[in-house]
Amino acid sequence: MSAKVSIIYFSGYGHTAKVADAVFEGAKSTGADVSLINVTELNEEAWAKLDNSDAIIFGSPTYMGSIAAKLKEFMEVASGRWMHRKWVNKIAAGFTNGGGLSGDKLNSLTQIYINAMQHGMIWVGCDQMSLLKTGQDESKRDELNRMGSYSGLMTQSNNDTADFNPPSGDLETAKGFGRRVANITAQFVKGR
Ligand SMILES: Cc1cc2nc3c(=O)[nH]c(=O)nc-3n(C[C@H](O)[C@H](O)[C@H](O)COP(=O)(O)O)c2cc1C
Repeated sequence: MSAKVSIIYFSGYGHTAKVADAVFEGAKSTGADVSLINVTELNEEAWAKLDNSDAIIFGSPTYMGSIAAKLKEFMEVASGRWMHRKWVNKIAAGFTNGGGLSGDKLNSLTQIYINAMQHGMIWVGCDQMSLLKTGQDESKRDELNRMGSYSGLMTQSNNDTADFNPPSGDLETAKGFGRRVANITAQFVKGR
């Protein structure tokens, strides 16, 4: 039985959508059954997918040091699931994209983490080693885990077109993150 993974995300300007696509690609490469859901396109079918998932990965840009309002709204609507403990023991993970190297992105991951803990989910972070050579040097934008984030996936994009942003290293990190969450979910599914 393949692991069922859903990615629920918001993206105002397309940068976080690129990260979500990369997480999707990585998760899919493990053979998992993966659904990519834009929070603005939620419908009954998408809610059913979330409820039937073994893992839910939540993604948002960081806006004003916080997750975007649309993802927060989704979390509040999903409180009915919290009430009925529908998502207990599902795997959870989170990602955020921001314009700043810090940009207070950790607060967004923390918000996503706390929401997952309220549901009784099982949190998976980012295991990829950061080479710690980065900074704003454009030549280093192909490095893995450029943000040095372990509690979840962080990526960074300059505030220009989403065509070239976030950079390749961040998108590769996102693929690795999707693979990791899907692989860990598969271990749980096998053990049930
Ligand atoms: C209203 C607003 C607030 C923002 N606040 C932050 C912030 O606090 N930290 C940060 O790193 N980037 C911030 N940014 C930059 C966005 O995170 C960045 O442009 C990101 O790529 C947007 O993702 P999206 O294209 O998926 O909407 C902000 C952007 C907007 C529009």
